[in-house]
Amino acid sequence: MGRGLKVLIADPLDPAALAALRARGLEPVERSGLAGDALVAALDGVDGVIVRGATKLTAEVLAHARTLRAIVRAGTGLDNVDLATAKARGMFVSNTPAANAVSVAELVFGLLLALERHLVPAASDLARGRWEKTKYAGRELAGRTLGVVGFGRIGREVATRARAFAMAVVAHDPLLPEWPAEFAWAPRRELEPLLAESDVVTLHLPLAPDTRGLIDAARIARMKPGAVLVNAARGGIVDEAALAAALREGRLSGAALDVFEREPAPADHPLLALPNVIATPHLGASTGEAQQRAGTEAAAIMARALLGEG
Ligand code: MLT
Repeated sequence: MGRGLKVLIADPLDPAALAALRARGLEPVERSGLAGDALVAALDGVDGVIVRGATKLTAEVLAHARTLRAIVRAGTGLDNVDLATAKARGMFVSNTPAANAVSVAELVFGLLLALERHLVPAASDLARGRWEKTKYAGRELAGRTLGVVGFGRIGREVATRARAFAMAVVAHDPLLPEWPAEFAWAPRRELEPLLAESDVVTLHLPLAPDTRGLIDAARIARMKPGAVLVNAARGGIVDEAALAAALREGRLSGAALDVFEREPAPADHPLLALPNVIATPHLGASTGEAQQRAGTEAAAIMARALLGEG
């Protein structure tokens, strides 16, 4: 048991996570919405910290966190943690890789179907009493090729669901040494051929120095005319100005975006005004199931890190 060991809960967590920490004798200290000096002060005297996406554990913050030994991100992306500083200071760092995958994959299809069947404008017309049956001709997913960029847990959940919609799937992942045999039906491609071949490209990569701006103007130009881009990964992976230009010119037929380079996205963001864009406020992991899994996984990982037990 870890009586006396404190874990700062820096972003709101599912109550099950707090109970799981207490059950292992760890003391959760709930303080959310902190940054800079206030965050450094809150980290003083704690052994571990659990964050979601909002709290930024920057190099400056971590450099001053004298007692901190373990950082757990309840969720997938670790782009809000300065990994180099954490490593230099010998801190344990982990995410909860499996927790969000199904929720993100389901959102991808929610967005894609909504985009291709014009569900948002059609529902909004009807809510205002307009029965626009002929205005909204959509497109089926069946028979189209889905290009999955990033073939980790989330990418694979997306690919699996694409089969149910009778889509063909190709995938790209530079980090996989061997292609998983059970996904032989989703053949591996280099990025450029995947972009040229896919009717729908969906991104499932972390934001890192080598993926920032990966989908730039040149790569957007390589995409099939009339293709659709889905991004429920991280905004910084896509050059937003280049994407807006391609959508305005009709080179891409649409985009479904759950993430933005700057979040919250400003109300006057050029992509939000385009009729061929459906956008949501980073809802990928926003399900009760994902939050519960992320919280309890984070608590278990933290306990292992601080106490050496499961
Ligand atoms: C994640 O990385 O876990 C997801 O994008 C969810 C989030 O950050 O809210």
